[in-house]
Amino acid sequence: MKKSIKHIIITILLFTALTCFGAINPIQLRCEYHVNPLGIDVLQPRLSWQLESDERNQKQQAYRILVASSLEKLETNEADLWDSGEVRSDKNIQIVYEGRPLTSRQQCWWKVAVMDQDGKASDWSEPALWSMGLLESTDWKAQWIGFDKIPELTEEPVREEPEIVIIKARYGAPDNSSQQVDLAEKLKNLVASGTYRFKITNEFAGRDPAAGAKKVLELEYTLQGRNRKLSLNENTDVQLVTPKVKKLLNRRYLPAPHVRKEFEVKGTVAQAVMYVTAQGFAEMHLNGQRIGDEFFTPGWTDYNKRIYYRTYDVTDLLQSGDNAIGGIIGDGWFRGNVSNLGQNQYGDKIRLRSQLHIDYADKRTEIVASDSSWKAAFGPILESDMQAGEVYDARLEMPNWSRPGFNDHQWAAVDTGSALSTPPLIQAYPGVPVRRTEELQVVQLTEPMLGVHVFDMGQNFSGWARLRVNGQSGDKIVMKFGEMLNPDGSVHTKNLRSARATDTYILKGGGEEVWEPDFTFHGFRYVEVTGLRNDPPKDTLTGIVIHSDAPMTSSFECSNPMLNQLHSNILWGQRSNYLEVPTDCPQRDERLGWTGDTQVFIRSGSYHQDVASFFTKWLVDLEDTLNERNLYGKQAPVMHGRGSPGWSDAGIICPWTIYKVYGDTRVIEKHYDGMTRYLEACGRKGLNGLGNGFGDWLSVGSKTPLDVISVAYYAYVTQLMAEMADVIGKEEDAKKYQELFERIRPHFQASFVDSDGRVKGNTQTAYCMALYYNLLTETQRKQAAEHLVERIKAKDYHLSVGFLGVPILLPTLTEIGRNDLAYRLLQNKTYPSWGYSVEQGATTIWERWNSYTLEGGISKSSMNSFNHYAYGACSEWMFDTMLGIDLGSIGYKSIKMKPEVGHDITWAKGHYDSIQGRISSDWKIEGETFHWEISVPVNTTAEVYFPVGSTGDITEDGRVVPRSKFKQKDGRLMLHLGSGTYAFAVQNAQN
Ligand code: BGC
Repeated sequence: MKKSIKHIIITILLFTALTCFGAINPIQLRCEYHVNPLGIDVLQPRLSWQLESDERNQKQQAYRILVASSLEKLETNEADLWDSGEVRSDKNIQIVYEGRPLTSRQQCWWKVAVMDQDGKASDWSEPALWSMGLLESTDWKAQWIGFDKIPELTEEPVREEPEIVIIKARYGAPDNSSQQVDLAEKLKNLVASGTYRFKITNEFAGRDPAAGAKKVLELEYTLQGRNRKLSLNENTDVQLVTPKVKKLLNRRYLPAPHVRKEFEVKGTVAQAVMYVTAQGFAEMHLNGQRIGDEFFTPGWTDYNKRIYYRTYDVTDLLQSGDNAIGGIIGDGWFRGNVSNLGQNQYGDKIRLRSQLHIDYADKRTEIVASDSSWKAAFGPILESDMQAGEVYDARLEMPNWSRPGFNDHQWAAVDTGSALSTPPLIQAYPGVPVRRTEELQVVQLTEPMLGVHVFDMGQNFSGWARLRVNGQSGDKIVMKFGEMLNPDGSVHTKNLRSARATDTYILKGGGEEVWEPDFTFHGFRYVEVTGLRNDPPKDTLTGIVIHSDAPMTSSFECSNPMLNQLHSNILWGQRSNYLEVPTDCPQRDERLGWTGDTQVFIRSGSYHQDVASFFTKWLVDLEDTLNERNLYGKQAPVMHGRGSPGWSDAGIICPWTIYKVYGDTRVIEKHYDGMTRYLEACGRKGLNGLGNGFGDWLSVGSKTPLDVISVAYYAYVTQLMAEMADVIGKEEDAKKYQELFERIRPHFQASFVDSDGRVKGNTQTAYCMALYYNLLTETQRKQAAEHLVERIKAKDYHLSVGFLGVPILLPTLTEIGRNDLAYRLLQNKTYPSWGYSVEQGATTIWERWNSYTLEGGISKSSMNSFNHYAYGACSEWMFDTMLGIDLGSIGYKSIKMKPEVGHDITWAKGHYDSIQGRISSDWKIEGETFHWEISVPVNTTAEVYFPVGSTGDITEDGRVVPRSKFKQKDGRLMLHLGSGTYAFAVQNAQN
């Protein structure tokens, strides 16, 4: 007791010393990157804040953090969990909690005060909160529950027909066209009539085209978008649909179980918190209200290894007396379709596990946990699958099912027990929840065929359509989703392959009905609707945009409208694909966390959204892919194998990027062991790296040799490892990796670089890799730079890079002093270029440079997504070089502002909300004057490079800046600035 009074007095004294008004104030308090996160399980979480000030050149000199177990205590400065004391430091991010050990369900209220460089103290910040989750496995009292009954079908399942396109069918003597008969038309008719098997005989062909000879049917067709070429002997039974596809077509989906439990609240509730996890998806309800606004919870992981739980404060939803909890369980990634592998990838049963803790004012705690006393039934959701879509029969709704007093006598007992034989880890969700973030209105409505209405949302995106409809009970509205239109105006679904992407709503009748699905999403721009009774108004559908709701952090605009549209397309590509994991595409039967795509885009992605938590989570998914051969997956969660240079290297490149952008060294420490093991695996073939792989995926007009790519990536990630080892104090390792790099580099030169500095393959990507990853001697650099330029000229100033070349093409050109070429490539509108897709009306980034052409229409390739962000990896250059907003040092503690102006661009403006606060750059050229307005966050500095020379004055806010203040650096005038906003004008600007 004595001690605590003494403690309070000291606290008050220090507090008073800190409370006189200062020039800087702490704002935006975050814990583990989140504002007031609930239920975390990081035992020593990291705290960050930003600083605001009206004055320039502001810095933090010291801080003090208080953490208390209640808001009341915090308000009286009774820091019973942690008082950091006054810490002399300019650090305001990633400050590790060092107070009392934290226990399950602990509430941690905190605030911070800071001192500026002149010793002036700020007021205390607003209070912030984090709470701990269930830290011990024994904290889980709840059981896994579900409902395993296989119900009778109430609706005919939506029958899926195979997609078959006959390309060639010639029957007769092989290699003798005069003795063959063309059966293509016959087969097309057969397929159109729904017959997919036949016996190839003379009778079938209508005649014997080569009497006496051995006859063969040369057949070529596509099945679900995939090419098949077959040579089949006479009398063979031909099955156009393979057993694998047949299995996919015969998929049966089960209804979503609803579970419920009533309970009583006896007393005054201080707080009620619900912890929920699922094998499948769980949507919880309390007293008739959906809990939270998150979708697809608890998220996607390798469920065999770990499953996350979510935490919700439900205090406001409880009432005294009778209460009811309800839960709906969806198939999700657990039991639903994943990639083209079909259903049941993790299990064939689905489960939820929920635990409600009611803390009463009188200190009692009661737990309402899922167990065998809960009851179950099926409701209106007849089918729900991420790829197939949802079937909802509103006639089967059960009003008030999650309210107390609902009659559940017909409900059955739940089934209990995990759907997995080995229990995985149950952990707190570290990521960013998927939420609805925007609504889109229909821009056009057509009726290409009688009764078939096509709604155009004007934008390709991920989400679903909200349906608003009037009709009679039993009316069935079918909505098919797609990204493009066929020439006849119908919705193109071929490129979705086996993803049914169809939602069906069956009306209950009796007035307006409004419906949205719960457990599915689609990648689409168009919706083809059948079953509407009357001509629908446009607002029959509304587009609901969903994605991982990481804060948007930037803006970009410039004088070239094509680039503004490109920027918008890149952003929509990211929003559509940063959905629980960074996926390749949101529409077809793939939607996987492809590691190559992720690593090429991550730096761009980190400009557009605060992706720190999103990647904190995904990097665990990636670590979970490491196998006994120590290779990271080609996707995470892994579905189709491991390795491949440029893909599995994401295991090193992504942590490194998160460290750079957010000053996060913990991500290095956490994954260091895995990264080391992976790097060793890369060295198994000596200095050659991993060897074969996907290569410079989907490049056009040139192929970069796989061995060049393999060694280049090995060298690149080895350098990153040397840097990361050094940062976390592993000097020996840093030395070892540096030495390894020093050996790979000459090996690269000896193996692939000729005496003229020509790199094997002689492709744009090969030169970019050699130059950008620092693999050449000084002399070779100069030569390779010339070859790169020559390669661009040879393509008539077009790019020929694929996924791996795309992020480094423009940065390499900047590095070799050819910004003119970088701008030229970026602003090209002819094929292949970024501008080409924009010119064709794209609203997202395409998978291929020619996913669609005016001449050929939609590419026939089975792999043709219109929403694949990889080629959007030019965005980092648009931010760091066009706007000039770049990292000067780790976590934007210092900022490099070096815009490259001109090249037909007369103005550019934008901002980036870094972990330190907002950085902005807004430049324009007006006659002979160059204007540049910038802002630099408090507690950071910037090296500001004037992109133009001048014989005239350089003014800031109208006042001449003396030349003595500038330095010459990298051939430019450079000013070292502190925080604040500045408006420069350069007279007689010369570029
Ligand atoms: C995916 C890619 C991925 C690639 C690897 C494709 O099917 O869509 O984006 O990186 O496979 O080869």
